Amino acid sequence: MVVRRILVALSLLAVPLAPASAQEIPRHAAPAEADIDALLARMTTAEKVGQLVQRMGGRQRALNSRLGPEELDKVRRGEVGSYLHVAGAEPLGALQRVAVEESRLGIPLLFAMDVVHGYRTIFPVPLAMAASWDPDAAESAARIAAVEASAAGLHWTFAPMVDVARDPRWGRIVEGAGEDAFLGSAFAAAQVRGFQGAGLSAADTIMAGTKHFGAYGAAEGGRDYADADISERTLREAYLPPFEAAAHAGTASYMTAFNALGGVPTTGNAALLRGVLRDEWGWNGLMVSDWRSIDELMAHGVAAGRAEAARLALEAGVDMDMVSEVYAEELPALAEVDPALMARLDEAVRRVLAVKRDLGLFADPYKYHDSAREDAAMLTPEHRAEARRLAERAIVLLKNEGGVLPLARNAGRIALIGALADDARSQLGSWKAQGLEEDVIDLRAALTSAHSNVVHVREGIEAAVAAARAADVAILALGEDFDRTGEARSFADIALPQAQKDLLAAVAATGTPLVVVLTGGRPLAVPEVAGQADAVLLTWLLGVEAGPAIVRTLLGEANPAGRLPATFPRASGAVPFAYDQLPSGRPASEDLASDTVRWRDQPTTPLWAFGHGLSYTTFDYGPLTLDRAGIAADGGAVTVSVPVTNTGTRAGDEVVQLYIRDPVASVSRPVVQLRGFRRVAFAPGETRVVSFTLSAAHFALWGSHGGWEIEPGAIELMVGGASDAIRARATLTIEGRAAAWRSPASLPVASADAP
Ligand code: NOJ
Repeated sequence: MVVRRILVALSLLAVPLAPASAQEIPRHAAPAEADIDALLARMTTAEKVGQLVQRMGGRQRALNSRLGPEELDKVRRGEVGSYLHVAGAEPLGALQRVAVEESRLGIPLLFAMDVVHGYRTIFPVPLAMAASWDPDAAESAARIAAVEASAAGLHWTFAPMVDVARDPRWGRIVEGAGEDAFLGSAFAAAQVRGFQGAGLSAADTIMAGTKHFGAYGAAEGGRDYADADISERTLREAYLPPFEAAAHAGTASYMTAFNALGGVPTTGNAALLRGVLRDEWGWNGLMVSDWRSIDELMAHGVAAGRAEAARLALEAGVDMDMVSEVYAEELPALAEVDPALMARLDEAVRRVLAVKRDLGLFADPYKYHDSAREDAAMLTPEHRAEARRLAERAIVLLKNEGGVLPLARNAGRIALIGALADDARSQLGSWKAQGLEEDVIDLRAALTSAHSNVVHVREGIEAAVAAARAADVAILALGEDFDRTGEARSFADIALPQAQKDLLAAVAATGTPLVVVLTGGRPLAVPEVAGQADAVLLTWLLGVEAGPAIVRTLLGEANPAGRLPATFPRASGAVPFAYDQLPSGRPASEDLASDTVRWRDQPTTPLWAFGHGLSYTTFDYGPLTLDRAGIAADGGAVTVSVPVTNTGTRAGDEVVQLYIRDPVASVSRPVVQLRGFRRVAFAPGETRVVSFTLSAAHFALWGSHGGWEIEPGAIELMVGGASDAIRARATLTIEGRAAAWRSPASLPVASADAP
């Protein structure tokens, strides 16, 4: 349907069909199709269905993935294709041996786990990684996670989670890269590269499982699992681009979303799973359902029973059934009497066998099962050092009045207040894989080892006030612990609990300089913090090296340069409120009583805007220049450049952000939209010229006929250090009209910096 709509749009525009993006997407199932066909020809229907079955291996600590005799008999009978939530080179090697040596066809198993932000070395949660505005950092974390996980016998991770999240009430915002499609696309591609490294057949890589296709993040009201009801344009422009970027980066698998899109549950949504992903984008990897989501087609009310659910999911393009056993129970009988369904079954089995082949499992099923390698791989000093470097890059300085930060080494007495200051478990965040609490160095431990005069008060306003009074500076740890974000952790109220507000007010009233260290995995509505603290350091959930990274930043040994990947609202009722709003016919006025797009009881500005983040140094921007004033819609490109100077006396990074606006188009366009960014390191006083090269395709919009269109006219270009801190502007003209082949937000932008 979608393809047809695009063809219609193209014929309307009278543009000849050029090579589609599909042809650029890397192919996994390259040669040796014949071997798979030969194998398929030998399989019984039951054995075919067995390949589509993913079962639960371990529960709590997956390292002892030893399964009981009944389970092993299933493997021997070829009834299992994959296990999830398992780990351990030796136990998984033993299990693999049963599949390879004791089943009729000897097809190896696939072992999977949610390795999201580290395996044993836990890195900052994904939202924090995105705050680094450094996709290379995310790639590096994913690479190390793959080295550790593959050494523990794993072939497959259910990551990256690339769901765009524009509603901070949604608890799973912590797992993704925030609210913007362009930033999200860069992080999606980077993580796929990191997990899959040099290629699936290398022994230290794991297959990426990009999830949850395609608009899970748009769940209504921020309630996890709720329906997404969004326009085709919003789907295309705001939610799908990171998935498309992951396809171009070569993700070998995707996972469906739990929720429905416009009333059609994703796990049975052929237009999405086949139409967009396979027909339009040309992707040909493995699609797994989410946890029991085939079974849930009944609860969604689109299948009357399990047989109907099985048929719907398989026909929609779901290859593997995670845990629900619906395929195992229903498909054999259904496929035996329906040749069309048997063809779908064969297609799904081919895809499972193809990834097993691409991982090199037919050639050497035991290459992931070397215990010596496993022992040597975990939490090495190098991995820890990288965890600290990345944690430092993720920290965002939200406020710094009167230069309270950085603290002097001889800052005098420090009152460290709050239970989050030594909550080591929280720093592991949601999805901690094999991360251990005892591996975490928390803020209290790191601060007391760096500074001799620290008093820590965990609870009680009276004790906190006394400690703050007696101190030269108070550091107050506020925010949310790990259990407030993640799956099924949506909250209608994202303000601080009253007890934290009271503590803040009491400590602030002492007059002692006050630094708030804000913990958590979502944007919070914290106007009291913004109002009462002298400085606010957003430290998220930073992983095993959280404490050292925070302390080095507090002391100025690291200069913060993280930026917000999602808007901080002023109130829980002021969401969703992403930065890239469409203009209104009645723009917001400062006049409270005016009939404009504003709230009457709240300013229509965010508390802290998308892209916001301060530094211990300052930056100046020169004029924005273009290498040409106009470009042709069909193939033109422009390079935009801006000189940026570190005007302070400290070295520091600036995240130079390029935004665009199309002021007049066939459809209303966002008032500001990210289309380039580059994190650049500056010496004190240094000037560097930062440039971005964009093609006309970067300015495409999803047209009203369906399809990407590049329209003629002016494009405003803006650069600055945040979406609300534009420092220089220029205008580009697009000449002519053309069709584009890929979402503009998923297209990488080349950038550079030079003296
Ligand atoms: C359900 C979650 O939605 C998904 O993200 C995860 O990968 C699976 N469970 C497996 O743990």
